[in-house]
Parts: sequence; C-alpha cells; structure tokens
Amino acid sequence: MRVGFVGWRGMVGSVLMQRMREENDFAVIAEPVFFTTSNVGGKAPDIGRDVPPLKDAGNIDELKAMDVIVTCQGGDYTTEVYGKLRAAGWKGYWIDAASTLRMQEDSIIVLDPVNRELIDKGVANGVKDYIGGNCTNSIMLMGMNGLFREGLVDWVSSMTYQAASGGGANHMRELLKGMGAIHSTVADELATPSSAILEIDRKVAKAIREDVPTEYFGAPLAGGLIPWIDKQLDNGQSKEEWKGQAEVNKILGTSSEVPVDGLCVRIGAMRCHSLALTVKLKKDLPLSEIESIIKSGNDWVKWVPNDREISVKELTPAAITGGLEVGVGRVRKMNMGGEYLSAFVIGDQLLWGAAEPLRRMLRILIE
Ligand code: HSE
Repeated sequence: MRVGFVGWRGMVGSVLMQRMREENDFAVIAEPVFFTTSNVGGKAPDIGRDVPPLKDAGNIDELKAMDVIVTCQGGDYTTEVYGKLRAAGWKGYWIDAASTLRMQEDSIIVLDPVNRELIDKGVANGVKDYIGGNCTNSIMLMGMNGLFREGLVDWVSSMTYQAASGGGANHMRELLKGMGAIHSTVADELATPSSAILEIDRKVAKAIREDVPTEYFGAPLAGGLIPWIDKQLDNGQSKEEWKGQAEVNKILGTSSEVPVDGLCVRIGAMRCHSLALTVKLKKDLPLSEIESIIKSGNDWVKWVPNDREISVKELTPAAITGGLEVGVGRVRKMNMGGEYLSAFVIGDQLLWGAAEPLRRMLRILIE
C-alpha cells in the first residue's frame, strides 16, 4: 500500500509519528509518502528507512497515487482538498483527524476498541472515509465502553475539564506564558514566607485580568477556567457540547439514541481531558458488577478505586499524561437512587483523543 501522510509535523501529526515509530508501524507500510503544504522537495521525517522527498499536499495528481491518505493537517485542508480528490475519481481510504467529515453519512468515526465491528463492516461494505472522533467523546467511550456495550446506559450527563492542547500548540504555550506572568508579579512575595496572602491575591487577580495573554483562548486561562469551548449554537449549547450526543451515538452505531449532554469547560491542564459523569443506568446493579463491567471495557481502562489517597495520586493529569491508559474512578452510587452512577474519566487528549485511533485504523486497513 502507498500511504500518504499530510500534516505530520503539527502537534497531533507529531504524536502520530511518534506512536507509529514506537509501534513499528512503518515496517508494514510498503510505501510511505510524506506531503507538505510549505516545503515541497524537503526532507521527509526519519522513519528508519529511505523515503522520497516531500511532495506537494495540494497536488491532486500526487495525492491520487496514494491508496491511503492520513491527514492531521486540519479542517481547512480537508475542506480544500477532499472534494477535489474524490471528484477526480480517487477511490482510496481517507483517514482524518479533523472534524469536517465526521458526521457525513458515509464516514465512520474510528475508535476501534469501542466500534471495531462497525469499522470492519464499513471496510467490507466499501466505506472509504475513517475519521477520528472528538477527543472528549473518545476518552469518555474508552473509559465507559463496558457499560455502553452491555446496553446499560440510559443517559449520560458529562461535565468536562478540557486541557489546553485541545485548542492546539499555541494554546498550550499561552497557558504556560500566563502561568509565568502570574508568578512573576508575586515572585518576591512568594520568596518571603511572612508576606501577606491577601496582598499576593490582589496582585494575582490584577495580573490575571491585565497580564495573562488571551490571544488564542480569548480569555485568561492560567489561574482560572473558561466555561465555553468552540462555537455558540442557537440552542444554547456550545458546539463541543453538541458533539457529545451526535458523535457518541455515531461511534456506537446505536439504533436508539442515548442522550448525552453536559457542560464543556477549558481548564489549565496541558494535555489531559477529564470528565465528571452522571450516568443514568437502565438497572440498579451492584457496584461490584459495575466495576467488573467497566474494567472489561478494553485493555486500556485503568480502574482507580474510589478511595481518596489512590484517587488523588492516580486519577490526575500528572499520572495519566503521556500514556495510553484511560483512568476511571470516583465510581459510586449517587443520592438520586441506585440507577444513578457518578464517575470520573481521564485520558491523554493527544493519544486516544487524537492520534491513536488513526494509527490503529491504518493498521486495520493494512493487515
Ligand atoms: N475540541 C476539542 C477541544 C479538541 O477543544 O478540547 C479536539 O477534539
């Protein structure tokens, strides 16, 4: 197979390349070809073997020669190129991290530990477009797959705590600059244990209002949070909130829609998205049974007992970041009744939330 890679230098693309090297994926690709939007003829990344110089990602003829195209270049690129390629008669597989084609009727949102059956059926039936899901939804489903698989979920309310990386590399940098700006206004006072905390607080509040950069997030994130992610829709939801129900049900391929709704909030984590869930179950099951169903969801579920000491150590961005495990904890029955479950799910936004499902989809096509 000739596999073309577009957008491999960006943040998601770089994580994809890193994971593909770690898993030795390039060894099973007959002809990897790297494309660029800015450096035609330049050197392709080091994948441990010789590959041709970079080709033009805008050249439909070059793209048409691929059996598979994997793109992390973003939605604008997909909008610009995908239609032209198909119009030119290209019949290859399109694997995309961007949301542009996600909700199209003839695309499949890929998250194979959850919907491998749907993917296999799609491949057998000639589906050509395989799109990575929204990060929050992918992480939620990785964590709660067992309950969905058993048909136990009546509805889910998901309150999210989303990391800066969901916005992009510039957003991560802005968060860190903001942290630095806050610290520098009170560095002297912090070095003096006797300094007055309310004076420190006054300076910090002023720095958050005036000095923390807001170019990318549109509001100060460091030292605070932003209770809105993505565009505003007419029904009062943010687009990120709308994606919950739409994408979760498409990933699961459910015939009767499971309601998913909640509030999406940006917080000052680097690359771990978290969700505080209220799950309304269809039956009142004992917690021990719920635990074994959740653990059986897939190999990456990291069950964290609902215990203070373990939760604050294991169910945090500090513990989860950079790895493939999806933490599931704080699982308990709520005051509302035996069918109401509380849970906290946390995962690395750039791995299961972005790059990992794409590289696994490529392997499914190749093997
Ligand atoms: N839209 C998500 C976010 C990231 O802003 O966190 C992409 O799935």
